[in-house]
Amino acid sequence: MIRGLTGLSDEIVQNIFLYIAVISVSILVLITFLMIYFTFRYHRRRNPHPEDIHGNLWLEILWTVIPTLLVLSMFYYGWTGFHALKKVPEGALKVKITARTWSWLFEYENGLKETELTIPIEKPIHLQLTSQDVIHSFYVPAFRVKQDAVPGMTTSLWFRARDLGTYDVLCAEYCGQQHAYMLTKVRVLSEEEFYRWYEEKGKELQMKKPVGVPLGERLFQEKGCMACHSVDGTPRVGPTLKGLFGKTIVVMTEGKERQLKVDEDYLRKSLLEPNADVVKGFPPIMPSQKGVSTEEDITELVRYMKELK
Ligand code: CUA
Repeated sequence: MIRGLTGLSDEIVQNIFLYIAVISVSILVLITFLMIYFTFRYHRRRNPHPEDIHGNLWLEILWTVIPTLLVLSMFYYGWTGFHALKKVPEGALKVKITARTWSWLFEYENGLKETELTIPIEKPIHLQLTSQDVIHSFYVPAFRVKQDAVPGMTTSLWFRARDLGTYDVLCAEYCGQQHAYMLTKVRVLSEEEFYRWYEEKGKELQMKKPVGVPLGERLFQEKGCMACHSVDGTPRVGPTLKGLFGKTIVVMTEGKERQLKVDEDYLRKSLLEPNADVVKGFPPIMPSQKGVSTEEDITELVRYMKELK
């Protein structure tokens, strides 16, 4: 009997995978062995007079019934496992995930927004996913969970971490140029440590101005801008923002080159209509912040970018 049908996602997936793998390998070995054996046994030299065989009822029943049962059992375990993965236990910690090109945003029930997922050990975590632009897929190999994030709908997923540590998060749906770099981490803390972290962060949030990191910089990370724009001078998918303010740049406007001096208006317009005046040499792929960021957020971001000398 398969263990863990109601247990942890990694156990469920592991066991079903193992079950199917063992059956597949056994059948592969059996068929390969028979093929080689028959080739040898019925070689012309050993069997010079071939004869026609006209059916064998029992053999036919056997090779129909046994594979049918095997395939049905795979379906049964797959189905019950899938069901267990979809049924979120009571009292789970809820976290909303927003995927966008090319980063993840995690939002907790107290309003806390983070770019890494921090969770307590053993507690079931209920993730609700959506996407701001194209289809992404939230994938944590260590927990054997994967779920698409689709624009315009909410998908859900749950898992539980049995060990402390840090685990990789990948995007498993090709979503454009930086898909392979759409990475982040899941940090598993002890329950005590987690709630200490959670409450501290919650307090910072209520004070409006987070301690340590200035608001603009925080927004810059939260909104995933750093996936494409560096602040240290290195060009990424998008131009670096270092020293951009006040610089004269060449942009493509409706397919025509023109020069402009970067001012507040240009920065603001680039956030709301990113593809209107694209810096020459860069692809017009930035998603608009229209309806995504508030007016205050935009103002803070512009202020932050102005200061990147
Ligand atoms: Cu997001 Cu691939």
